Amino acid sequence: MSREEKKEQRAKLREIKKFNNKKYKEYNKMMKQKNVPESEYLTTMKNPDNILEFDNLRTYFYTDTGTVKSVDGVTFEIPRGKTIGVVGESGCGKSVTSLSVMRLLQGPQGQIAGGAIRYNQESKNRAIDLTKIPVKEMEHIRGNEISMIFQEPMTTLNPVFTIGAQLSECIKLHNPNMAEEDVKNRALEVLKLVGIVREGIYDNYPHELSGGMRQRVVIAMSLACDPQLIIADEPTTALDVTIQAQILDLLRDLKEKINASIMLITHDLGVVAEMADYVVVMYAGRVVEQGTADEIFHDPKHPYTIGLMKSKPMINERVERLYSIPGNVPNPINLPPHCYFKNRCESCVEKCEGAYPELIEVTPTHKVSCHLYENGNSGKTGGNK
Ligand SMILES: Nc1ncnc2c1ncn2[C@@H]1O[C@H](COP(=O)(O)OP(=O)(O)OP(=O)(O)O)[C@@H](O)[C@H]1O
Ligand code: SF4
Ligand SMILES: [Mg+2]
Repeated sequence: MSREEKKEQRAKLREIKKFNNKKYKEYNKMMKQKNVPESEYLTTMKNPDNILEFDNLRTYFYTDTGTVKSVDGVTFEIPRGKTIGVVGESGCGKSVTSLSVMRLLQGPQGQIAGGAIRYNQESKNRAIDLTKIPVKEMEHIRGNEISMIFQEPMTTLNPVFTIGAQLSECIKLHNPNMAEEDVKNRALEVLKLVGIVREGIYDNYPHELSGGMRQRVVIAMSLACDPQLIIADEPTTALDVTIQAQILDLLRDLKEKINASIMLITHDLGVVAEMADYVVVMYAGRVVEQGTADEIFHDPKHPYTIGLMKSKPMINERVERLYSIPGNVPNPINLPPHCYFKNRCESCVEKCEGAYPELIEVTPTHKVSCHLYENGNSGKTGGNK
């Protein structure tokens, strides 16, 4: 690198640092805000049958090397009582989307930079924007109304406390006036719901349980407060195949029993085929296609989704990882002005050199972001590669 280039690079890094400091200050100011008037976060659902609506959500990480646009304009809905499967290859922004809902991003680097997450808060008969609500309000919603199941159960469980203590703590936190005896009964009730009937588990420590059992306990914790929405981020990836099947059967069974909405993030298309009512396909921080499970599996439109379907699962046959399409995802710090999939797409046409494609409605439930479907085209315009 020449001296001139080094100088230029140093100036660029200084510029990034200055910009980040400004963002960190804004974040710290926002975190300290007290007495935020309700009017600042009250909103209206686009459709009152939805439990959650992502509207052009943007979540960025302000890092030393530049702004990582992990989620860059995500829009989709979770209807009440339904399961939404979110798929896409590693790094496409699935976890960051869910952490944005829970407001669990690692600040001040990770921040919601724009858009809205509208939540239909039935307990208070109102709709609120989760990106704007004060931290204190969020503490009440998290775990109580919206709960999360992480990939690795030990992220949720504390190794130094018994299962009973942790489960009770969780129930008490959300029901401070509940009598001790009722707390224990509720704990045993949710353990039973996840298929654990032996009472002795109450006094066990997490390390005394198998991985599958631990994940059941984590699911029990997520159910303890009758949440309206459960976000499960790769809930079975850390488990071996037979246990995976059991946990999935459990989730499917619970779906019928608890009447909650589920946002299920997974690499496993077999799981999505079996569990989801709707599917959202993400690529490089954006939604490239969404529709009912039937539309996505039987009539995929986006070349990326079509690629994924090459690993199309059969019932009772699980696919460990998504089919890998040759090529790489663009750098999230420096995203191109055109379709992000262009360098890997086998169907691209001249128009793909132009602006990023808008989301096009194929049916009222099926949307795709690809130039091939503009102006009512069926997508069969042929490729140039
Ligand atoms: N703390 C962080 N700092 C900087 N970048 C981050 C951070 N967390 C996530 N990212 C970036 O955000 C992008 C999206 O990450 P995310 O974890 O949401 O991916 P994912 O779709 O959940 O992937 P996987 O399937 O591997 O879990 C990635 O490019 C990742 O590198
Ligand atoms: S817009 Fe073009 S490059 Fe992008 S997926 Fe569609 S055809 Fe491929
Ligand atoms: Mg993830």
